Amino acid sequence: MANTSQNPRNPAPTATTAEGADGTGADMGVGDTVTMEKIVALCKRRGFIFQSSEIYGGLASTYDYGHYGVLLKNNVKGEWWRAVVQERDDVVALDAAILMHPRAWEASGHVESFTDPLVQCLGKCKKRWRADHLEPADNGDPRCPECGGELGEARQFNLMFETFMGPVREDAARIFLRPETAQGIFVNFKNVLQFARRKPPFGIAQIGKAFRNEITPGNFIFRTREFEQMEIEFFVPPPEAEEWHQRWMDDRMRWYTDLGIRPDHLQLRPHGSDELSHYSAGTSDIEYLFPMGWSELEGIANRTDYDLRRHAEFSGEKLDYVDTATGERYVPYVIEPSAGADRGTLAFMVDAFDEEEVAGRKRTVLRLHPRLAPVKVAVLPLVSRDGMPEKARAIYEELRRVIPAEFDEGGSIGKRYRRQDEIGTPWGVTIDGESMEDDTVTLRDRDSLEQVRVPAGGLAEELLRRLHLDWRSPKIES
Ligand code: GAP
Repeated sequence: MANTSQNPRNPAPTATTAEGADGTGADMGVGDTVTMEKIVALCKRRGFIFQSSEIYGGLASTYDYGHYGVLLKNNVKGEWWRAVVQERDDVVALDAAILMHPRAWEASGHVESFTDPLVQCLGKCKKRWRADHLEPADNGDPRCPECGGELGEARQFNLMFETFMGPVREDAARIFLRPETAQGIFVNFKNVLQFARRKPPFGIAQIGKAFRNEITPGNFIFRTREFEQMEIEFFVPPPEAEEWHQRWMDDRMRWYTDLGIRPDHLQLRPHGSDELSHYSAGTSDIEYLFPMGWSELEGIANRTDYDLRRHAEFSGEKLDYVDTATGERYVPYVIEPSAGADRGTLAFMVDAFDEEEVAGRKRTVLRLHPRLAPVKVAVLPLVSRDGMPEKARAIYEELRRVIPAEFDEGGSIGKRYRRQDEIGTPWGVTIDGESMEDDTVTLRDRDSLEQVRVPAGGLAEELLRRLHLDWRSPKIES
């Protein structure tokens, strides 16, 4: 099984040891003014994402999410869940354990073939590279991208992290951290058939951590060794597989554009036959135009009946479906939309990032879809006197019961707006002198900068109304 998460048309060689502690790489301004450096700087400045174990010098390509990062990623996962579980009748939920029986990884093919080709520089730098990411040199074989040295023979390197169950570190106790959440779904197929009373076509959805000992992680949270997946295994009668594959590709593309991703920054790319995983009869990647070029956000595969047949063979359990009406017995095919929660979060941030000049001053703003924004409304007293902070606080306490809100009274009003713009807060409510007299407030829109006066009493309803309107990124040129 090749590691399918790299677009071969955009090889971005990064050495395991070459990358800086923050893993951002350099020189990544392709096709947009947004660079990965600007995103990394904003994430740090506003507490979205930090380098893991920073006080020890950082652990390469490992990241911790701070307050706004957690809220944003939770919203990405929440919107996925809403679309694929809550608003459908044919998908049920699962939360399987990260640790699984080691035989499951033999059955899935991961022990044998979840590998990438690894080469080491024999020259000065001795760095390691993924052989399939390297460009051939003018006069033949690839050379080390760092020092130009000769490269050694490629060897297959298994990407699964190993650990041991129990106190004895012996082969019999060896288990793996799951490299995909999918297998936890396949091994529960029978349970779900029985207890959720489903019949194909139906799906099982799961969000959870996965681990891969990537040879070349990098590009911030794009490729890391610990990440979160959002996966659906959708079981269908085999003759319906093609049709369901197409339906899921359409649904998943629409999910990204409905949440504001610019359509010209999104594409569906079918895998060439040399790229297909061993289980796949066809895979298409949804790709986003990141600063480093078109790269995979999500893969949508027709996994055939490979996984259920293999688990049936290795476990000795029957994993076929018997249609009680017709008596027909078959092993369902599986359509798998498999997305990365961290990659999705990065794509939404990159797509939303904007810089403009307002009244002679630079404004950095995250034009996130309001449903994705970590905070929906900021409540700001104009000044810290004349009863305004108290009134603002009372309004904030009312609002936060129904919508994520933040109260901020520190610094000039301009500075506070800028802070909220940078974290993507779509609306700002200001309590000023007039509010003290007539109980109205100003409501500011992050994107248009329009300010309107509205009664304080109807604020919650107005914000919820706005939150549920269709939304289009102001970055889309009309
Ligand atoms: N079950 C199929 C599967 O795991 P994949 O293409 O290897 O397929 C699916 O992974 C998604 O998981 C990718 O599209 C990507 O969004 C995310 N992903 C994979 N490897 C990742 C990594 N090292 N760091 C962050 N996200 C990753």
